[in-house]
Amino acid sequence: MNVVFAVSEFDGIVKTGGLADAAGALAPVMKAAGHQVKVIMPAYRAALAKVPTDSIAGGGVRMNHNETLWFGIRHGQFRGTDVYFIEYDEFFGRGGIYGEGGQGYHDNSRRFAFFSKAVLETCRILGFKPDVVHCHDWQTALLPYYLRIDECGNPFFADTKSLLTIHNAAYQQKTDESQMESLGIGWRYYNPACFEDFGMINILKGGIAFADKINTVSPQYARELLTPLGSHGLMESFKRRETDLSGILNGCDYTQWNPETDALIPAHFSRANRSGKAECKAALQQRIGLPVDHHKPVYGLVSRLAEQKGFDYLIPALWRFLHSDVQVVLLGSGEPHTAAALEELAHAFPDKCRFYNGFENQLAHWIEAGSDFFLMPSLFEPCGLNQIYSLKYGTLPIVRRVGGLSDTVAGFGEHHEQGTGFVFNSTDPNELFDCLQTSLHVYYQHDLFGQMQDNAMSKSFTWEQAADAYCSVYHSLR
Ligand code: ADP
Ligand code: GLC
Repeated sequence: MNVVFAVSEFDGIVKTGGLADAAGALAPVMKAAGHQVKVIMPAYRAALAKVPTDSIAGGGVRMNHNETLWFGIRHGQFRGTDVYFIEYDEFFGRGGIYGEGGQGYHDNSRRFAFFSKAVLETCRILGFKPDVVHCHDWQTALLPYYLRIDECGNPFFADTKSLLTIHNAAYQQKTDESQMESLGIGWRYYNPACFEDFGMINILKGGIAFADKINTVSPQYARELLTPLGSHGLMESFKRRETDLSGILNGCDYTQWNPETDALIPAHFSRANRSGKAECKAALQQRIGLPVDHHKPVYGLVSRLAEQKGFDYLIPALWRFLHSDVQVVLLGSGEPHTAAALEELAHAFPDKCRFYNGFENQLAHWIEAGSDFFLMPSLFEPCGLNQIYSLKYGTLPIVRRVGGLSDTVAGFGEHHEQGTGFVFNSTDPNELFDCLQTSLHVYYQHDLFGQMQDNAMSKSFTWEQAADAYCSVYHSLR
């Protein structure tokens, strides 16, 4: 089939989170599965600096009856995949992807509305008739609407269907109703079944209404989206589309995240021979300036600093837990108030805790490889990739029972010796503290801890498995 990936991030080109990992891994796997895949993304300044491209064409999109925006199309090859870049400097020739200095760009709705239209126009210019346009998150959630309404009756797109993959339903992109015209949305669709949401335009909500199929990135999160508590306010929208909604678990890109081959870590190790993990731990302890001591358990975290990730109860739990004989290393970037709270924590325990405020891929790999436990106590988690990486590195994840975390980690309490990590339920810091204490007890039972590491390292969540499920969805669209 002819497939277009309409995405705002792609691992290795530009990344703010797991969306990039997912798109970057899935596109080549779908190509390997026999589909003709073209990735189309914005020509951010950072993207053009990464990928050598040629300018191949140009075109224009009508945003509404009195406005046409003219753009360029650049083409490049990236890790064997054809990538097309929509060049429109006023929107994408900026320093950031979605914002700068912690502030989102004020015109993000317009930027990605334009991008979504430009993706369709690019298909036409290339003469590439997609069977499926695979959209990702709110950034391309307007595309299904444009395909269905603007292109209605256009023979070029007569056989084109849309799939909207929701990596995170908390990011919906709500914008003022005065923007209807500039986003090219007809007023007849400003109602609660389409775009209207308590007096605002909700872009993701419109995508849910107009996409031919919708999926999210784990079966459990798909179930949660149908509940009042787990739907981020969109329960009615998801319920209307329940039969077209599925949950497909993300995979892990084991070419990047495998302790046997990882080029970024100090020593390699495998399930059969874990001695290299001790070297990674010592190297990590040394790098972060904590006592190099194999007997002290190291708890790692790599995360966006956002409410989603559970800092509201993690931080109080750590204030208590750090009185134990443990080491904690935290890497994250995002909300300044969370960064400040983590700085304070690290300051209070200078011989036990480190916080790195930033986005550092190599340090992320070192933390995965060198820690004994990985902290991922998310409030909600559509899938989560870091806990999946952790399993492969024998770094036992400590997770809350939500979304993809609950689909990928088998809790010690219920599964005993078959457990791959530690699972807690509530958002009460005391319950997390108890879970941390349990992990500590297990750490000192060497056979049990080793058994759990072995269980964890035996787990594989591949993109090939995910691709099979996506292929079925593509075919069901025909
Ligand atoms: P989310 O997409 O919600 O941020 P995921 O677990 O799906 O969560 O994916 C996060 C990805 O981003 C992982 O590859 C993780 O290693 C990476 N990441 C997140 N924060 C950082 C950071 N501060 N430094 C390096 N990598 C990070
Ligand atoms: C989102 C989610 C995360 C998921 C990732 C890739 O950023 O927060 O849970 O793993 O997308 O699908």
